[in-house]
Amino acid sequence: MEQQIKNLVSQMTLEEKASLCSGFDAWHTKAIERLGIPSIMMTDGPHGLRKAKDGGFGESVPATCFPTAACMASSWDRALLEKVGAAIGEECQAEGVSILLGPGVNIKRSPLCGRNFEYYSEDPLLSSELAASFIKGVQSQGVGTSIKHFAANNQEYRRLVVDARVDERTLREIYLASFEKAIKEAKPWTIMAAYNKLNGEYCSQNKYLLTKILREEWEIDGIVLSDWGAVDDRVKALEAGLDLEMPGNGGLNDKKIVEAVRSGQLSEKVLDKAVERILTIVFRAVEKRKENAVYDKEAHHILAEEVAKESIILLKNEDQVLPLREEGIIGVIGCFAKEPRYQGGGSSHLTPTSIDIPLEEIKRIVQDRAEVLYADGYDLIIGETTSQLVGEAKEVAQKSDVVIIFAGLPESYESEGYDRQHMRLPDGHNLVIEEVSKVNKNVIVVLMNGSAIEMPWIDKVKGVFECYLAGQGVGKAIAELLFGKGNPCGKLAETFPKKLSDNPSYLNFPGEKDRVEYREGIFVGYRYYDKKDMEVLFPFGYGLSYTTFDYTGIKVEKKELNDNDTLKVFVKVKNTGNRAGKEIIQLYVRKKNSLVIRPEKELKAFDKIYLGPGEEREISFVLNKRAFAYYECEIKDWYVEEGEYEILVGKSSREILLKETVNIKSSQKLRKSFDRNTILQDLKDDPKGEEIYNKIMELVAKKSVLGCENNELIRMFLSQSPLRNAISFSQGLVNEDMIDEWLKQLNE
Ligand code: GLC
Repeated sequence: MEQQIKNLVSQMTLEEKASLCSGFDAWHTKAIERLGIPSIMMTDGPHGLRKAKDGGFGESVPATCFPTAACMASSWDRALLEKVGAAIGEECQAEGVSILLGPGVNIKRSPLCGRNFEYYSEDPLLSSELAASFIKGVQSQGVGTSIKHFAANNQEYRRLVVDARVDERTLREIYLASFEKAIKEAKPWTIMAAYNKLNGEYCSQNKYLLTKILREEWEIDGIVLSDWGAVDDRVKALEAGLDLEMPGNGGLNDKKIVEAVRSGQLSEKVLDKAVERILTIVFRAVEKRKENAVYDKEAHHILAEEVAKESIILLKNEDQVLPLREEGIIGVIGCFAKEPRYQGGGSSHLTPTSIDIPLEEIKRIVQDRAEVLYADGYDLIIGETTSQLVGEAKEVAQKSDVVIIFAGLPESYESEGYDRQHMRLPDGHNLVIEEVSKVNKNVIVVLMNGSAIEMPWIDKVKGVFECYLAGQGVGKAIAELLFGKGNPCGKLAETFPKKLSDNPSYLNFPGEKDRVEYREGIFVGYRYYDKKDMEVLFPFGYGLSYTTFDYTGIKVEKKELNDNDTLKVFVKVKNTGNRAGKEIIQLYVRKKNSLVIRPEKELKAFDKIYLGPGEEREISFVLNKRAFAYYECEIKDWYVEEGEYEILVGKSSREILLKETVNIKSSQKLRKSFDRNTILQDLKDDPKGEEIYNKIMELVAKKSVLGCENNELIRMFLSQSPLRNAISFSQGLVNEDMIDEWLKQLNE
């Protein structure tokens, strides 16, 4: 195929080559009939197919609306994400779509980002592993993906022009890491360059991102395409590594490419390479095309329900108020019970093939074994309430044995294109919960929101489910979880802080004058809250079950290892309750006595297992170098500090149950460089420097202006002094030539 493509390119005119570097329209690549080059279609999105009927941005053809990324991520279930990807891939084949524009893997730097519903996590490992599974699923159906938005697109505010200023270590450990494992492991056919700038240059023309990182370091074999309308300077973008500009623009920029080649500004080889890469993807799509493909709508709907059930998180269950019994009078309050929020606004918004309604599903379960009362509670669109609506809700609550309040964020509160201004639910939702909890002590709140929210009423209710935006199957999923027809097993993939100003990005979000500084650095999410030992509303990795699990018997295959070894960790988990359930086990790593600033702990592995009542299983994790490394800018590489590391295994980032310690030898030595301003303590700490340090102390003691006695205070003061001071403190016994000689020895 490679040679065929090169031959094709050799037959093309310059204009034809340039023409392939931009779309035909919103969703298609260009064809060149003369040479038998077809056009292929790409379209959104990360949790279901959005193929506009009008070929533009209008209403889309019906497709299964799976839970959004924020919800799916809470399943922590790689296999499940792969199943979802495969199902969406089937739907793409049935609709003639060759590339799905997803997954979205941008890190949740702030809870306010309008597209957080469309992203997985605040943690790059969880995000990247789940994205890899999703990509594998979609691509297993012969459909490509477009991991997005590369990179540091963590807000909607002025996203097409804002300049994200991120230091190298933070980029590597957090924002690029969310893409890295997914790209290396699952090889998405395409990567979508983000709208924003990164450190002064648009991502769509950022050579560091598109060539150095993607091609030279990560060795991608796919193409880089722009977000829609993200290209500023097309020629510069091509040179930086952007192959395909989307959407099409009538060839306006193609002409600039032709002119640039003609004028010698752009090497034709660069253009040829991009065209070869684009043709590779086009012909791969053609080869994997399944003509007349169909898919099972009902099966996909059932899958959507299953994924929602596996992802919804039980956050509170006081007095075991849940699962509910199918008896008595059950009050259901809130418009979201009739018209649930199940997806987000913007390019991922699609037309579901059907939608489960929570209120109907609750009635279907209880039938005539219980009476179900209902009240709207608040206005569906704006979320506000009135005294009448509150009165009706309280009336229902007074008659009920238990009350389920559906609340969350109305569509208008969060979407692609804008960020939230605060973390509050609509006042109407909060007021209804407060008022109803005054007249009924058995209140369960079911939340439908795309990102973390504040819960001022948390101590006044007994149960809380977080559904996020759980797709078209949310109604049946939440009804079955409420009545114990399923055992909740989701866990948070992001921290819920107590209040917005607790969030580490708070002082620098969304930035000013089109510049946003990531001043919190690597301290994103739990990395920040745990380092500061801050109270949070609900921690990263938290979620309850209707059963209980016990963790015992952590074992490491070795306690001493080199940084290039892998380490196997074993843990026993037992279901100590009386019903089957699934448990998400998390493994974090902590460096003890680190010489660099590091998070208190970092997620480095996770697994999810099913256990019957009383069943116990031993699971294992395999850790490699990256589990212990940080990104050392001095050597521009990942570096494992020597010394002790703690392996922490737990139910959440705040509930560590088992701990083991290992000792790691590093194969790399950070090259220390010494100079006149190196403090004497650093000499003392260095094998070669200690002798010099002692020599200096001896000479200084002889004629020190600080007094000749060799007392501890002076030694301490001197140890913190730069080498150059030895001259004056020894009144010349130490001289410049000696210092130069010593530095030569030390820096060899
Ligand atoms: C949008 C989004 C991107 C989407 C594309 C096509 O602006 O940023 O995620 O895939 O345009 O709709």
